[in-house]
Amino acid sequence: MKKITAIHLSALLSLSLAACSSGEQNAGTNQVSSASGSPASAADAGNNSAENSTGAEGSAETGGSNILIAYFSVMETDGVDTVAGASRVVSNGELMGNNQYIAQIIKQQTGGDLFRIETVQEYPTTHDALLDFAYEEKAEDARPELATQIENLDSYDTIFLGFPNWNADLPMPLYTFLEEYDFSGKTIIPFTAHGGSGFSRTIQTISELQPNATVVSDGLSISRNSVANAESEVVDWVNGLHLTAE
Ligand SMILES: Cc1cc2nc3c(=O)[nH]c(=O)nc-3n(C[C@H](O)[C@H](O)[C@H](O)COP(=O)(O)O)c2cc1C
Repeated sequence: MKKITAIHLSALLSLSLAACSSGEQNAGTNQVSSASGSPASAADAGNNSAENSTGAEGSAETGGSNILIAYFSVMETDGVDTVAGASRVVSNGELMGNNQYIAQIIKQQTGGDLFRIETVQEYPTTHDALLDFAYEEKAEDARPELATQIENLDSYDTIFLGFPNWNADLPMPLYTFLEEYDFSGKTIIPFTAHGGSGFSRTIQTISELQPNATVVSDGLSISRNSVANAESEVVDWVNGLHLTAE
């Protein structure tokens, strides 16, 4: 049993390391290059719930929209060498995590409400410490307690769901999130900024955790090395979904 666990964990670790080292050459803060290219609301994107544009204490504020953009993102504070991966974008002088940046663009494009998935525990913001922490959390099959809540879920019928690929899986807070809420009858549209593995199996996992939701199978997957230059790709993708905001 121990042996199986050890094999499993070492396979996981190799997966994670392989994924995290892919494309490391471009490591460092991703600068948004286009002048207009940064979401106007980028400054809204804080790193904690108090600064969150979703409203006080991290709960999504009803902006009258039927679209919610929920995301999890951990902006790393290092990653300026070739070992650590770039997990942050600077847009209009504002630093944010990769998935946070994509969420901002979706918000700008759809007029939806932003909701940042946050946990009571704080994640390390340096790459190696974050890798270790997330690896342990996955090995334990943890369900980190969430610090932010959606209070008006009924008003949304479309949920964009953004997250980084962690260890070829959803980050564990996404398990808590997807087990805590019932998205029956709603449409979930996944997006991810990743280190080379794309979605891995995460879309199937979302479908399994939310069997009564419609989960869009071809979500948006962007390599972290391209995130800073991905605004037009995100905009085109959103427009191609032909959503109608209410
Ligand atoms: C703990 C951890 C595990 C990761 N595992 C993978 C992985 O298995 N596959 C992959 O493609 N990228 C992996 N990455 C890279 C992230 O998916 C990538 O840096 C992502 O853009 C981070 O998004 P964020 O800035 O929104 O948090 C991992 C990153 C971390 C911190």
